[in-house]
Amino acid sequence: MIRLAGVNKYFGDYHALKDINLDIPAGQVVVLLGPSGSGKSTLCRTINRLETIDEGEIYIDGVLLPEEGRQLAQLRSEVGMCFQQFNLFSHMTILDNVTLAPMKVRGESRRDAEKHARELLTRVGIEAQADKYPAQLSGGQQQRVAIARSLAMKPKVMLFDEPTSALDPEMINEVLDVMASLARDGMTMVCVTHEMGFARKVADRVLFLADGAIVEDTTPAKFFSDPESDRARDFLAKILGH
Ligand SMILES: Nc1ncnc2c1ncn2[C@@H]1O[C@H](COP(=O)(O)OP(=O)(O)OP(=O)(O)O)[C@@H](O)[C@H]1O
Ligand SMILES: [Mg+2]
Repeated sequence: MIRLAGVNKYFGDYHALKDINLDIPAGQVVVLLGPSGSGKSTLCRTINRLETIDEGEIYIDGVLLPEEGRQLAQLRSEVGMCFQQFNLFSHMTILDNVTLAPMKVRGESRRDAEKHARELLTRVGIEAQADKYPAQLSGGQQQRVAIARSLAMKPKVMLFDEPTSALDPEMINEVLDVMASLARDGMTMVCVTHEMGFARKVADRVLFLADGAIVEDTTPAKFFSDPESDRARDFLAKILGH
């Protein structure tokens, strides 16, 4: 579903992604781990071309991601992305936030877009909030709206970059539960998260990045019990040490 072949990315002289080769089959849930600055966000952002790459190729469902143009907009809509900041439109209701892109970009009728949006809001557990504005919702609810908004574009792939990092602790689980249910339903997912419980329970695969390179590519069970590299052992000691 996602293929990266020989991907290299520079920020000026800084080599941010180093020869990334990666195949993610449909339905797989991948958790990206690694120290701050290792390139996790950059890798996510290249997958939907929010960042350009300097070398290599990226395919989504067998189609080469183009550099720019109409075809890029279409392929990008097949890749949903959810960040730490929810970026909802504050002047629009929850329902309108979710229907906007399907109507504008996919040309769906209001009737169809609203029907689908209400189904998605039900799926993420906030159907009762449809007519409210973002500021009237909790952070966890807003993040679930952001997930519903991405799903409204019927993506083939979902990317999550620390979706729970800005949330109060009691709201983290409600967002992780939505992500886990998406995973159960067969969504192909790449998740950057510090939630190690989620990584252990939901991920099929852990990729550990250090200095822009994939250092380990393994199962959660193996990664957490018996990491291969010193970098990974060091990382685990730090995050599990307190
Ligand atoms: N737009 C940019 N211009 C220059 N350097 C950048 C840019 N974006 C990222 N970098 C650099 O690339 C490296 C990787 O950054 P990235 O944000 O991908 O790391 P990360 O693994 O997501 O870190 P964190 O866990 O802190 O979010 C860092 O050294 C960062 O400073
Ligand atoms: Mg990051």
